[in-house]
Amino acid sequence: MPDFIARMPKAELHLHIEGTLEPDMMFELAARNSVELPFDSVEEVRAAYEFTDLQSFLDIYYQGAAVLRTTADFRDLMWAYLERAASDGVRHAEMFFDPQTHTERGIGFEVFMAGFAEARERARVELGVTSLLIMCFLRHLPETAAFETLDAARPYLEHIAAVGLDSSEVGHPPEGFERVFAMARDAGLRVVAHAGEEGPPSYITGALDSLGAERIDHGVSCEQDDALVARLAAEGIPLTMCPLSNVRLRGIARIEDHNLRRLMDRGVKVTVNSDDPSYFGGYVADNYRAVQQGLGLSHTDLATLARNSIEASFLDDEAKEALLAEIAEMAISD
Ligand code: ADE
Ligand code: ZN
Repeated sequence: MPDFIARMPKAELHLHIEGTLEPDMMFELAARNSVELPFDSVEEVRAAYEFTDLQSFLDIYYQGAAVLRTTADFRDLMWAYLERAASDGVRHAEMFFDPQTHTERGIGFEVFMAGFAEARERARVELGVTSLLIMCFLRHLPETAAFETLDAARPYLEHIAAVGLDSSEVGHPPEGFERVFAMARDAGLRVVAHAGEEGPPSYITGALDSLGAERIDHGVSCEQDDALVARLAAEGIPLTMCPLSNVRLRGIARIEDHNLRRLMDRGVKVTVNSDDPSYFGGYVADNYRAVQQGLGLSHTDLATLARNSIEASFLDDEAKEALLAEIAEMAISD
């Protein structure tokens, strides 16, 4: 089963590049850039990854990102992720980045976009992994800051496929970002949004109706609203779920309680992703393994999840067909 999971062609659609910063690299970059860390060892860092909710994680995640300063840092970070993802059978990755985390520290788009471009091109050529970038607005900051971010991104829009919305969810409903998402759509960007990770189902409806989200990142709380589940299924709106993240941030007590399988059974197009793998103890194949074991998924279920990930991606039809054909060729029997 584990080998089957790693061999299955898949897309990863919910991955924060800043959340792939492994403790070893954090120390390496801190030394390279003379940044003081509040930790003395890799073990101490790992011990600090004991989260009680989303905010307790975000505080440490933003602190960790402070070691990222140069184009080489962003390149090395992204290359390490893409290389790791390739070994998990990821053939296409749609990766979030949080520009405001960097621009607030005086690190501009020219720095991180150059590093991302270098790593993505190398991954395409050397690993056969294609990728897209999704620029997230931080929802704990005002919409005016999101407008400034969209403006700063203008020279780089050909390298950005979509916009997203992340950071502290509760108290920051999607409606507050309606205008900036409209402007992003006008600029030709696709739209996704985090919703229903800790927030209520109304945030999911808001992401769809106010922002025009084409996919919902997480979407766990949709199950509290039967009409919403029916809508997600009927409209084929994908959920990019992150099971290990939900357990580590205590939105769900145990992997066995995760609603991913129940939602699949109700016809929702669910996908499996890793969110912030360095912080949550697992990359994408680990997430597939966790739900396979915790929820008793069959080979057929796993193939459905992999197919969903390709269909829910922003790849063109030709690229989707090629990857779906590879999945179809795998010998799948339960
Ligand atoms: N930023 C990074 N990971 C996140 C998550 N799981 N939810 C919201 N914002 C995030
Ligand atoms: Zn996320």
